[in-house]
Amino acid sequence: MIIHNSTFEISAVRPSQWPEGGLPEFAFIGRSNVGKSTLLNRLLNRKNLARVSSQPGKTRQINFFAINEQFRFVDLPGYGYAAVSKRERSEFASMIDKYLLEREPLCRIVQLVDIRHEPSKDDVAVHEGLAQLDVPLVVVATKLDKIGKSQVPSQVKKIRQTLRADVPIYPVSAEKRLGLDELWALFESDIAQ
Ligand code: GTP
Ligand code: MG
Repeated sequence: MIIHNSTFEISAVRPSQWPEGGLPEFAFIGRSNVGKSTLLNRLLNRKNLARVSSQPGKTRQINFFAINEQFRFVDLPGYGYAAVSKRERSEFASMIDKYLLEREPLCRIVQLVDIRHEPSKDDVAVHEGLAQLDVPLVVVATKLDKIGKSQVPSQVKKIRQTLRADVPIYPVSAEKRLGLDELWALFESDIAQ
């Protein structure tokens, strides 16, 4: 994918702020700190288009980015962040649900999990919910650079078993730029649909 331009559009807290539909959308969802914003930046070759932080809970709204005036990336707030108040957590959850259920141009959901760990209870529950939606789903296993090459197949297998996933799993490292071309190939085929 050649990126001619990528722009941040809006941090939306309510559906009326979502950009006018039309362009196909790729939504990134995963636990806080799993690397959603970092992956999005790397895919677009941008340093800090989506805000990244070593502190979890950085992304608190639904952030929309337009790419090549052709498609959108959507950075969703991370789930499972304990230090966020209960009320705020349930607000995030209903905002995310609303987006996933109602957003017509949504063409692909990208669920991120950390390749080093067995998916959490939250990951499993979210995966179950996403798998029931009528939108193509892919799992991305992040931070590939943090494990040895020989561990990759067994970690991917563990993730597949724990999530009971019957969708593809793409191991990537945003840090070391591994696996990004494969992910782009998938996105390009979605856009061409
Ligand atoms: P929230 O916005 O809180 O939901 O987090 P997020 O999922 O957007 O995570 P973010 O991209 O902010 O990254 C969290 C931390 O993980 C940062 O310190 C990143 O530098 C680090 N990180 C992200 N991707 C990678 C990766 O591929 N490899 C390594 N080693 N670290 C990564
Ligand atoms: Mg983020």
